[in-house]
Parts: sequence; structure tokens; C-alpha cells
Amino acid sequence: MQPWRFAVVENKSAKDKLGIALTTKLRADMTTAHLPQSQIESRISSSLLRLGQAPVVILLCRDLTAVRGAELEEESMAVQSVASAGLQLLLAAHAEGLAGNWICWPLYAQNAVRDALKLPNSWQPQAMFFLGYPNEAPKEKTVKSLDDVAIFL
Ligand SMILES: Cc1cc2nc3c(=O)[nH]c(=O)nc-3n(C[C@H](O)[C@H](O)[C@H](O)COP(=O)(O)O)c2cc1C
Repeated sequence: MQPWRFAVVENKSAKDKLGIALTTKLRADMTTAHLPQSQIESRISSSLLRLGQAPVVILLCRDLTAVRGAELEEESMAVQSVASAGLQLLLAAHAEGLAGNWICWPLYAQNAVRDALKLPNSWQPQAMFFLGYPNEAPKEKTVKSLDDVAIFL
């Protein structure tokens, strides 16, 4: 069904609109959670800084019309397909010498992001990627051992 859709956000005005949509929702959610004002503002300014510094932001969406049926399994399958496209995007970027971060923030403000960027109504934001040429090598990560994540039968 190829339910993946991409909105490539390059210009400052579109990035600003995306930032306002994301932070307005974040501020509302953090206020509802009774977090201190200073914490809210510091989180918002650091998030906006990261967004502003990313040379390219690619928003990954799911097209709600690209689905075979209304069953929950079909929805899960579409989300899995879109996530696979997201991983392919990161691998392709890496192959081109780019680095990227998977950012799930749009999940928390799907309607606000769609409206702010005037995306088609059927496009449901799922994630975004900050892409650029890296100026540092990623640190080695501790990953779970094979025994923690796999069973052999
Ligand atoms: C599904 C998924 C969602 C993520 N969402 C966020 C996010 O919203 N914000 C964030 O800072 N990092 C998020 N990350 C982690 C970043 O993509 C990245 O791994 C993290 O910033 C660490 O970067 P590093 O691996 O280069 O140290 C997410 C990772 C995954 C796999």
C-alpha cells in the first residue's frame, strides 16, 4: 500500500511554522501536567534551537487512505510500513554521508503539525528527522546483549 509520505522542510518560514505548532502543543501539555514554568520554557527553547539548527527536517507521515481495511491490524501494518520507510531514510542518508536523528515529537501534535504545514488531510504525522552533515563521530552505545533480545527455539 506504500502508506509513507514525506514533507521536506527546508525553508525558515516552514520550519518556524512547524516549531510554533510543536511548541504550542508541548507548552499546553506541560502546563496541564503542572510542570514549573522555568522547566517548560527551557525545554521549549532547547527544542526550538535543535529544530532551527537542523539543515533539513523531513517529516514522515502515514497516508490514512493507503490502507486495505479499517481493522486494527491494518492500522498497525501501515504504521510498521511507515516506520520501515523511516529507517530506510536514515540508512540512505547515512550512505550519502549525512547523519540524522529520529524525532517522535510530531506524534504528540499530529493535527497541529498537519494544519501548520497545510499537509493533505489524510497525512498523519508520525515522526521527523533532523538531517545534516555530522561534525562529530557518534559515541559507542551500550546495547542490550543478544540474550536479552532474542530467544532461539
Ligand atoms: C522511535 C524513536 C523516536 C525518537 N524520538 C526522539 C525525540 O523525540 N527526541 C530526541 O531527542 N530523540 C529521539 N530519539 C533518539 C534520537 O533519534 C537519537 O538516537 C538520540 O538523539 C541520540 O543520538 P545519538 O544516538 O547520536 O547519540 C528517538 C529515537 C527513536 C528510535
